[in-house]
Amino acid sequence: MRKNDLVTVTVTDMTFDGAGIGHVETGERRFPIFIRAAAVGDRVECRIIKVLKNYAVGIISEILTPSPHRISPACPVSAKCGGCAFCHVSYEGELGYKTQLVRQAYKLNYPAPITVADCVPSPATEGYRNKLQLPLSDDGTFGFYSLHSHRVVSAQGCNVGHPAFLPVIAAVEAWIGANGVSPYDETTGKGLVRHLFLRRGHHSGQIMVCLTVNAAAKNALPAEADLLSRLSKIDGMTSVWLNFNTKKTNVILGDCFSLLWGEERIEDTMNGVRFRISPRSFYQINTAQAEAIYAHAASYLSAEDILLDLYCGIGTIGLTCANKVKELIGIEVVDAAIEDAKKNAALNGIENARFFAADAAKTLEILAELPHKPTAVIVDPPRKGLSADAVAALKEIAPEKIIYISCNPATQARDLALLKDLYVPGEVTPYDMFPRTGHVESVVCLSREKADDYIRISVHTKDLQTKAN
Ligand SMILES: C[S@@+](CC[C@H](N)C(=O)[O-])C[C@H]1O[C@@H](n2cnc3c(N)ncnc32)[C@H](O)[C@@H]1O
Repeated sequence: MRKNDLVTVTVTDMTFDGAGIGHVETGERRFPIFIRAAAVGDRVECRIIKVLKNYAVGIISEILTPSPHRISPACPVSAKCGGCAFCHVSYEGELGYKTQLVRQAYKLNYPAPITVADCVPSPATEGYRNKLQLPLSDDGTFGFYSLHSHRVVSAQGCNVGHPAFLPVIAAVEAWIGANGVSPYDETTGKGLVRHLFLRRGHHSGQIMVCLTVNAAAKNALPAEADLLSRLSKIDGMTSVWLNFNTKKTNVILGDCFSLLWGEERIEDTMNGVRFRISPRSFYQINTAQAEAIYAHAASYLSAEDILLDLYCGIGTIGLTCANKVKELIGIEVVDAAIEDAKKNAALNGIENARFFAADAAKTLEILAELPHKPTAVIVDPPRKGLSADAVAALKEIAPEKIIYISCNPATQARDLALLKDLYVPGEVTPYDMFPRTGHVESVVCLSREKADDYIRISVHTKDLQTKAN
């Protein structure tokens, strides 16, 4: 196979970033071809644009027979923008694919049969994002990076962000245009405005704006009063921050912030509990679906539980479960998030909760040594999953149940395999938290059902401690 060859392929599978996978027979091999914006069931003629040792990449030159799931993308920039992967597939098709993705991840990473339920649809598939991070293009408009590049494509017409963000984007762009404000250039490191970071409380409608600039001091912002006058008129505007980032880096936010206008935090509620959110804190981007996931997690808890909420962020999961359990301990590595978690507990008059800024694995190791151990642990780690140390310490503590919420089914399945000698998983439930993108969240409750194994491990641990003493 060579570059520019035209081949006819039936698409049989998809990647997480929305490319279709088909195969061509080359001699004795079935050679996989990855085809952008193809859908399972499509029969397409595609032009090969890259040939590597084990696969090729193609682009569709003609759709010969469309997949039953194929739709015309509602988004005008879907072909260029790297944000969404499934604009060309019906939502039903996308959900089916996400269910398959989780089943496949378990097949590859978990060495026993396990039940994976059908993916739970998101309550909304448009306007569901409560947060946007928009780089500024050199023509002074905000947008998204195109796939595999840092070329900015316009955000106009994007319908996954909440529509209340549109007048905010327009106001900042108008301020840039009126005052000749320079966009940051990644190659030269020159220019002022890098990103517009937006957040909105799903239930409260409060909006936070954070403008990231390539500057070290607050007075670097030209025509600040003009910017604030434009923003403060917008419905729901609550908080305007400036963030300073002079590093040549892909990381959006720098370490220093300065409040320009309004409140330090916006407020929102999740499952009836109030939360104050600062620009630095992690906050789930699809509030309605996160509420469903939290309610699912809470359904496994009982009034006698001592609950450990690991990777707790600003305390959202634990605090929404606090009235169901005897005691709540939250652990999170970001100091500012723990400060928010403590304030959030006080704001809601929750008195059975304590929060600590610490590394999850180290905290588990300490807890394993204490007599007062959690009976239930909720883990919601970043994409890389639990560290080997965290898994080992969880086994030492051996809580009755571990409720594992994950944004990466492959690492979740891997971690369940590592816990398999002590824990039996229930049904895995995928949740579509990020419609139109290739990401999927999944929840599973593990029960410690093998009492004999638990006793064996406890005795083994005591033996080790005796030897160490
Ligand atoms: C997927 S978020 C979950 C946050 C929270 N549970 C929620 O639903 O909003 C993962 C969190 O883990 C935190 N984190 C990352 N590494 C950590 C570590 N080694 N120890 C403790 N927390 C960590 C991150 O700061 C982030 O807040």
